[in-house]
Amino acid sequence: MGDMGDDDMTGNRARGAEKHDHAVPAALAEAFRHGWADTAIQAPPVSGAAYAAKRRAAVSERFPGERIVVPSGGLKARSNDFDYAFRPHSAFVHLTAEQGTQAVPDSVLVFEPDGNGHSVTLFTRPRSPRDGGPDGAGFYGDRRYGEFWVGRRRTLAETADALGIESAPREDLERALRGRKAPTRVVRGEDSLVDALVPPASGAGAEAEAELLTFLSESRLVKDEWEVEQLRAAVGHTVAGFHDVVGELDHATGLERGERWIEGTFNRRARLEGYGLGFETIAAAGAHACVLHWMRNDGPVRTGDLLLLDAGVEADSFYTGDVTRTLPVGGRFTDVQRRVYDLVFAAQSAGIAALRPGARFGDFHAAAMRVIAEGLDEWGLLPGGAEAALAPDSGLYRRFTLCGSGHMLGLDCHDCAAARRQSYPDGLLAPGHVLTVEPGLYFQPDDLTVPEELRGIGVRIEDDFLITADGAQCLSSGLPRAADEVEAWMASLR
Ligand code: GLY
Ligand code: MN
Repeated sequence: MGDMGDDDMTGNRARGAEKHDHAVPAALAEAFRHGWADTAIQAPPVSGAAYAAKRRAAVSERFPGERIVVPSGGLKARSNDFDYAFRPHSAFVHLTAEQGTQAVPDSVLVFEPDGNGHSVTLFTRPRSPRDGGPDGAGFYGDRRYGEFWVGRRRTLAETADALGIESAPREDLERALRGRKAPTRVVRGEDSLVDALVPPASGAGAEAEAELLTFLSESRLVKDEWEVEQLRAAVGHTVAGFHDVVGELDHATGLERGERWIEGTFNRRARLEGYGLGFETIAAAGAHACVLHWMRNDGPVRTGDLLLLDAGVEADSFYTGDVTRTLPVGGRFTDVQRRVYDLVFAAQSAGIAALRPGARFGDFHAAAMRVIAEGLDEWGLLPGGAEAALAPDSGLYRRFTLCGSGHMLGLDCHDCAAARRQSYPDGLLAPGHVLTVEPGLYFQPDDLTVPEELRGIGVRIEDDFLITADGAQCLSSGLPRAADEVEAWMASLR
């Protein structure tokens, strides 16, 4: 087992046996090689494989004659011999439909020019052999990849069957990338071996790689029917997590770090129904709601305060929900809380009404912000008036809104981040787009420009929408939105 701690081809230290492990005498090593039954892997079939094949065909068509390399990424050490949970790169998932715990670190998808198209190979780590070979002790000795440490991986044949992609061992990757020189574009920064074998180009070469990222990102803008199904499921699980949280609110109020109880309650649902979380749960009670991404979650949850919960379950397919509700912890909004809530609700409703194919992506934000600015003006918080505050060279209302009102949603919570301005923020909505509408108002606890009663109140309402042929469908309609409905719903669950 002395070779098990050597650097592997990922450039990461492949942790095998640790320094303090018991030595394996030859007789034991020999015994480990025998006496195992054949087993078939217990994995659900990959339902999205046929859709991923179409996406690979689109890559092939866009980059004729070029080699395209899309790694899954690898494990990241948390400390010593423990890693963070593995989550493959979204571009890799999109092109393979790889699922949850079946995903294998350090996999690499290679499109090799072949005739008029490409042959596509998935280089991956197959199941370790039990009878010796280069990784002979791996199945019981390797803490990072060994079957007896982290679970069984698919054999190459099982991977090819599950995903419908020809599969080869990762050891063959170097030869494949060093072989016949085709112009090569790589998703960089995910796999140190790939990065080393295909040195980063400058000038036109760098632009070519940026273009690949852009293409991969933009090809995720319109979701196909299978992706919509995955997003419906992810949002459905997310809605269930919100129900769970309301059922636990009373318990949370009795704890010093009640926000953690809220986080844990949601996260339990995420692990039960999906792969996990699309992003760290934001459980922000009281003035913490004024911090947009409050993920510390170390505060109390007090009756009389609001709880802003912004959370999303990531399904086993790695598609995620992203929903926010701002809830009165005691079950009833105070007058001032309700005033703020109702203004955000009106803004969100205006934003939702602006969703339709052909609308500009920015329209829903503009509609929501107009309502917000007019409301703030009525409250005397915009000295120059709403119109002046809305002017692009002012934006004074943004002191209280801080960020945009929504984003594309998919494999990433903030999906399609490498898309060009003209195809996303400055583009038009189209059937198959999935996005959030999530305006908010945040009155910082130390903001001396607002009346004291508003300070420390933060409200965001966020729902997920599918753009359809003639409008938009709310995927998170399983949760109430209006203040009265929220109160009634909470009463029914407690
Ligand atoms: N749910 C977190 C965000 O959209 O930023
Ligand atoms: Mn969001």
